[in-house]
Amino acid sequence: IIYKSEYRPQIHYSPKGNWMNDPNGMVYYEGEYHLFYQHTPHDTRPDFSRMHWGHAVSNDLVHWDELPPAIPPGEDGAIFSGCAVVDKNNTSGFFNEEGSGLVAIYTNDGNSAQPGKPQVQSIAYSKDKGRTWTKYEGNPILFPTETLDFRDPKVFWHEESLNWVMVLAVRDRVEFYTSSNLKEWSFASDFGSDIPGIHRGIFECPEVFKIQVDEDSDTTKWILILSVGDRNGVNPNDSEPPAGGSGMMYFIGDFNGKVFTLDETLESFDTIKWIDYGSDFYAAVTWDGIPNEDGRKIWVGWMNNWRYASTLPSKEWRGHMSIPREIQLRTYSEGLRLTQAPITELNQLRRPNLSLQDITIKPDTNVLSAVSAAKMEIIAEFEIGTAIEFGFRVRKSSSSNQETVIGYHVLNEELFVDRTKSNDVDFHPDFAAKHKAPMKLEHERIQLSIYVDWSSVEVFGNNGTTVISDMIFPNLESTGLELYTLGGELKVVSLQINDLVSIWE
Ligand code: FRU
Repeated sequence: IIYKSEYRPQIHYSPKGNWMNDPNGMVYYEGEYHLFYQHTPHDTRPDFSRMHWGHAVSNDLVHWDELPPAIPPGEDGAIFSGCAVVDKNNTSGFFNEEGSGLVAIYTNDGNSAQPGKPQVQSIAYSKDKGRTWTKYEGNPILFPTETLDFRDPKVFWHEESLNWVMVLAVRDRVEFYTSSNLKEWSFASDFGSDIPGIHRGIFECPEVFKIQVDEDSDTTKWILILSVGDRNGVNPNDSEPPAGGSGMMYFIGDFNGKVFTLDETLESFDTIKWIDYGSDFYAAVTWDGIPNEDGRKIWVGWMNNWRYASTLPSKEWRGHMSIPREIQLRTYSEGLRLTQAPITELNQLRRPNLSLQDITIKPDTNVLSAVSAAKMEIIAEFEIGTAIEFGFRVRKSSSSNQETVIGYHVLNEELFVDRTKSNDVDFHPDFAAKHKAPMKLEHERIQLSIYVDWSSVEVFGNNGTTVISDMIFPNLESTGLELYTLGGELKVVSLQINDLVSIWE
């Protein structure tokens, strides 16, 4: 397939047609990365009563083949978010002949067997590398006790206790369950209901994983990830995600197979650690089954926000994923922090366009006026001279009435993306906005890695410590680029612009 229609992401996954939201069931198995996702194959708007798992596979996490929808809804209700695991040792007993296979664990919404208690967890298995799935005849495998919001299972094999662990979003908390066979689950503990300030909306799409601290240490920590959605009403006194609407937070601690304990107590929402300061990164969870010799933690998020997701101006499809990102946990003076970086597999798309070193930029000049690109990668390091604000204006129209500004404000020590003039912004009142993120200067320098596509920008500041992910909808002809400085001079230590080859070519 070659995708060329207006706004169609060229370096991001989007389905050929119709609606997509959360990534689901991400698993690596026998040489293939699977990406399932919330999908209504019959509608460009979300039809929650007929939600399917869409499906795509890739050998390199960059180029994707879309396959037919994998798990359709039925009597059991819609197929909501969940995960997939490799059942290597046939703990489930589904693979007596094959020895191993894939098991998907997902939420059924609105099932007729449990009126009034609509969300339950179910499983399905595949013996043919995820191409066809059989729903388990003993479904559902987990019922809620009291709440209606009981969803988005993420399961992993906990090596230390030789058990499967499930983490589930249950309105104002997450719940942990354990199992030896993926069919029978016992409640282990819950987390989060008593932490003040984090309950702006209900919890969705949680995950818990172990990660190494810094590249050269033997220490590991456990991270708990939460997506916080505000569709079902908000607690106005609780902290809103930085760009409003749907957002993601994380917690650092330990996990013993049953209980997650926080490293530090959260006293107020000032200490919430947000994953992304843009408005379009949600429901991200990591790939399961990545071989130990690789060992990376990789995820994609849904590049969208429930506030305006169903009104996006794209035509035959709606919704796309972020680029795959590697997550690391690094030590800084303020403590441990998660970082995100584009995976190195993306480097194959680079076609070097321009590179500059050690030059000084003055206000009212543009050293990049010769560059024209609707999609590109920008890698830059700056030393702050006398500049007060500087950055890039990307996707500029020749008349200059269209632009998206990716900048840094020196006095405020703030990274920002301003999409107020990015062209199509009127489809929702919250879309036109400037999104800001605190980001400290490091020895008077800042580093930026930026991916620009036909309908998005992803900005990784200071080696991925600060991230802003935003959709934009500029005209395809808006391909101008500018490096600007305001209030004084700026030193470019290094700057590289790479054109990017479409992943669909
Ligand atoms: C998150 C979410 C999940 C749910 C799914 C439904 O975006 O609301 O909690 O399972 O989307 O499509």
